[in-house]
Amino acid sequence: MTADQAQKEIAKLTDEINHHNDLYYQQSAPVLSDFEFDKLLEKLVALEAQFPEHRQPDSPTQRVGGTITKNFENVAHKYPMLSLGNTYSADDLREFDKRVAKGLDGNPYEYFCELKFDGVSISLTYENGIFVRGVTRGDGVRGDDITHNARTIRCIPLRIKGKNIPESFEVRGEVFMPKQVFQQLNKEREDIGEEKYANARNTTSGTLKLQDSSEVAKRKLDCYVYYLLGEKSKTHAAGIQHLVDWGFNVSPTYKKCTSIDEVLAYIDEWETKRADLPLETDGVVIKVNDIDQQRQLGFTAKSPRWAIAYKYKAESMSTRLNGVTYQVGRTGAVTPVAELEPVFLAGTTVKRASLHNANEIARLDLRIGDYVFVEKGGEIIPKVTGVDVARRQPELVPLQYTQTCPVCGTRLIREEGEAAFYCPNVNGCAPQIRGRIEHFIQRKAMDINSLGEQTIRQLYELELVKSPADLYDLKLEDLLRLDGFKDKSAKNLLGGIEQSKAVPFESVLFAIGIRYVGKTVAEKLARYFKTIDALAAASQDLSTLLAAPEVGEKIAESVQRFFQDPENRREVDRLRAAGLQLESTAREPEKESEVLANKSFLVSGVFQRYEREQLHDIVVKNGGRLVSSVSKKLDYLLAGDNMGPSKREKAESLGVRIISETDFEALLRGESI
Ligand code: IVH
Repeated sequence: MTADQAQKEIAKLTDEINHHNDLYYQQSAPVLSDFEFDKLLEKLVALEAQFPEHRQPDSPTQRVGGTITKNFENVAHKYPMLSLGNTYSADDLREFDKRVAKGLDGNPYEYFCELKFDGVSISLTYENGIFVRGVTRGDGVRGDDITHNARTIRCIPLRIKGKNIPESFEVRGEVFMPKQVFQQLNKEREDIGEEKYANARNTTSGTLKLQDSSEVAKRKLDCYVYYLLGEKSKTHAAGIQHLVDWGFNVSPTYKKCTSIDEVLAYIDEWETKRADLPLETDGVVIKVNDIDQQRQLGFTAKSPRWAIAYKYKAESMSTRLNGVTYQVGRTGAVTPVAELEPVFLAGTTVKRASLHNANEIARLDLRIGDYVFVEKGGEIIPKVTGVDVARRQPELVPLQYTQTCPVCGTRLIREEGEAAFYCPNVNGCAPQIRGRIEHFIQRKAMDINSLGEQTIRQLYELELVKSPADLYDLKLEDLLRLDGFKDKSAKNLLGGIEQSKAVPFESVLFAIGIRYVGKTVAEKLARYFKTIDALAAASQDLSTLLAAPEVGEKIAESVQRFFQDPENRREVDRLRAAGLQLESTAREPEKESEVLANKSFLVSGVFQRYEREQLHDIVVKNGGRLVSSVSKKLDYLLAGDNMGPSKREKAESLGVRIISETDFEALLRGESI
């Protein structure tokens, strides 16, 4: 293909994919299947890699990320990002209204009410219709340039089409993680034994600062915009309408009000209705609608006089703690649950609340019979936030945390540095066994969708399945013993189990449930080690595991522990015998050159222009070999920042060449260094 043809093809594909994206995200009316869509995208990725100079500024490939930002540049805002004055009462709002009326000399005015979205505020700059910069609020005057990460947020338009678009303008909004996405993320973290994130807002903030934008893309962030700057609308409402017309995501919850009483009615209306919104909100923002009037009212040092935030009080109720029960998860982690005297809170009756862990119980100095405060915070599951000590009866005694597993009675253990207690009876404790099977069959793992929680329970109770490998020994007559199973449903399940044998190695590696090995880590391990035998062999030496991308000490030790356990090795052998994929079938990356042939490399530290894994890829694609430790036979130690001093000392003492990423690039060009 000539460069000219490529340019045309890239432009055509870009438009086509953006159109399908729009159908999918803006209009919820897709016409392509995911598979067809992915094929188009892959084609564009390949063409752009070959002809990077023709990549379009609104290329949809930016949505999947892949850019690494080592340090986010701190940049000045064109217009400072001010905060708003807060109020918690109707009286305060009436005072605000009086100040506005006075400031406007008795002229009529309108308010524009919006919900106050609890996310991370962002400023988005567009030039000639193209999204050019995304900056966090920072201290209001300067923020961090997170453009690459913002580009992965699908509802932020990369190119604006439409009428009356100013040459340059800025949009303010709030990036958030939808409640559902947050809950799913936490479920996945709990599943692999990671501590859960505290709330969606902090998680969003952390996500926006991830160095690898492809990780940001996976987090499914969303964004609502609520402010247009650099454009000459007469009212805030007109600015909002422009944003809607230009394809921005505006929450449809806004309302124009002509009096403070209407504003108060809006506040009342949304106090309960906001529970059904896809994101957390913590109040209402009230803005004077007319821009000239806004100008007339002006600003104080910190905030506009033409706007104010009304904050909803966190909904909290006090009720009696009737008892504490304990739940056991797949990893054996024990979670305490407060059993409460039922109480009505934010639209639902609450009977149970999370207590997190033993430290939390000690911190609250909890006693059965106490009156406790219950709140619905960022999560749907309410939590106990405090004790009403004034109502405590003197005879109550501090709660003793359970010392044994509530299910199997085994004495609990607690590892150093861990908040949770664990039941160590891995192979004999029912919820752990069932949890492992549930984990094994989930969509991201073996994807046996004809098998649900209830069926797993029955299979376990009938002693038909005690470990994932037992699934592959199931026969038709076994399944016919289950409640509600007939010939057809039984055959259907057997078919699902059979099909799972084709699931690729990385999914199997995730499915076997090594603690801390989530789907992403499993993918990286599978790509690096290629076979389960190579991974098991590498587990004999922690440093070999640590050489793999994304693998830190916590994961390495967990993988080692897994393969040290004979029970686990036996299970893996049985899965092998059943015919599961324990080797990666992914094609070897195509060789780009042989310039590094017969040379061995060890990559260590943090680099300015590359991820460690990218460097690994480049070495292999150009004929080089990767090794995991410094020895006399090592040709090059490719050293980034923060490399451990012992590696450097050892390399120096053995006369191994230590090179920088610039030296490495020279080597790739075939130059001698
Ligand atoms: S308007 C000058 N509207 O609340 C007015 N802000 O304390 C600029 N926020 O930093 C802000 N929802 O992050 C506005 N509908 C909304 C909002 C909103 C949330 C946040 C924003 C700002 C903070 C103000």
